[in-house]
Amino acid sequence: MLSRRTLLAASVALPFAGPAGAAAAPGLGTLAARRGRYFGTSLASTEIVADDPSFALMEAQCSVWVPAWEMKWGALCGRLGDAPDYRGADKVVAAAIERGKRLRGHTLVWHEHLPEGAEALQTAADWDRHVVPHVAATAGHFGEAVFEWDVVNEAIEPSQGDDGMRRTPFYAMRGPDYVADAFRLAAEAAPHARLCLNDDHLYYAEGWQEARRVAMLRLIDRLLGAGVPLHVLGLQCHLDTRWRFEERRFARFVDEVTGMGLDLTVTELDVTEAPGAGAAGLAARRRRAADEVGKVLDVLTDRPAFSGVVTWGLSDDRSWLRKGRKLVDNQGLPYDDAGRPTPMRDRLATLLSSGRSHHDRTR
Ligand code: XIL
Repeated sequence: MLSRRTLLAASVALPFAGPAGAAAAPGLGTLAARRGRYFGTSLASTEIVADDPSFALMEAQCSVWVPAWEMKWGALCGRLGDAPDYRGADKVVAAAIERGKRLRGHTLVWHEHLPEGAEALQTAADWDRHVVPHVAATAGHFGEAVFEWDVVNEAIEPSQGDDGMRRTPFYAMRGPDYVADAFRLAAEAAPHARLCLNDDHLYYAEGWQEARRVAMLRLIDRLLGAGVPLHVLGLQCHLDTRWRFEERRFARFVDEVTGMGLDLTVTELDVTEAPGAGAAGLAARRRRAADEVGKVLDVLTDRPAFSGVVTWGLSDDRSWLRKGRKLVDNQGLPYDDAGRPTPMRDRLATLLSSGRSHHDRTR
């Protein structure tokens, strides 16, 4: 576990001064902090490269970093039962602490990127033997270095069953109660951390997203009713310009969530362009992506429970949409391929600086 002394040293470290000339323009993390919020990005340890311009942006713009991959169960353990290998994640943590960044932990329980062999787990005994030690060891290893954990990722999938829960090995092992169990385990192992339930596709007017909102509200209600330590709903916000946004519908959902006492964080923001978007000019495409972010975040900035934004990568050249999803030319992040700010960067600066401060949040 990282020592309290190391963490204290990090919290008094001087803020990153940025490249020459950048000092005058406050970064998004600084702007967000004025309203009690944070701004950050996901990153991999391989991106921590001195003098690399993309990494310099991550240093200058962010108050929070999130390992995109290296804290996931399958990244820590290649095969079920392997001893966890923390080297990649520890590198991100050490670099964050050196620079006075805070860390979100992502993610303890997720049905993707499992260790080989974990797909076959299905009994309560499997849960006790494999999942309990994984959650306890992972949350315990990073200790107070992680201020907020995505404890369970993507639990909702109404198309898979009447209870609205996604059918995963975790569900097979413990039934729907696995979510409550995971949060209780995380609270024991990381008692200082804010605990987040993270999910996607909760913003648009389409019926299938409405069904997801309903299922999510039911899950949150069940968890809080059972006294589960749940503090934050993470809205991944992998936005998509194909779908239709209705402000009132999303605002109603947001008010229900905050009415139940949860904070709201945007945890994985990016925009997928609709097929055929490439026919428009670059400038128009980037404005369109910024507008998409504006629609959703406009609703959030009015609520003091809104605590921050993390983008899934900071510049388009590093976007997982380009690599993993093969959208090779997608324009969906605050910086372009050459590290120049896009209209989304300006929009985020305005949004993060506006609305009601998270300092005004009352529990
Ligand atoms: C992605 C990472 O960005 C990739 O590097 C990795 O190969 C796959 O996972 N929702 C999530 C994230 O919660 O963990 C995913 O991240 C993107 C979708």
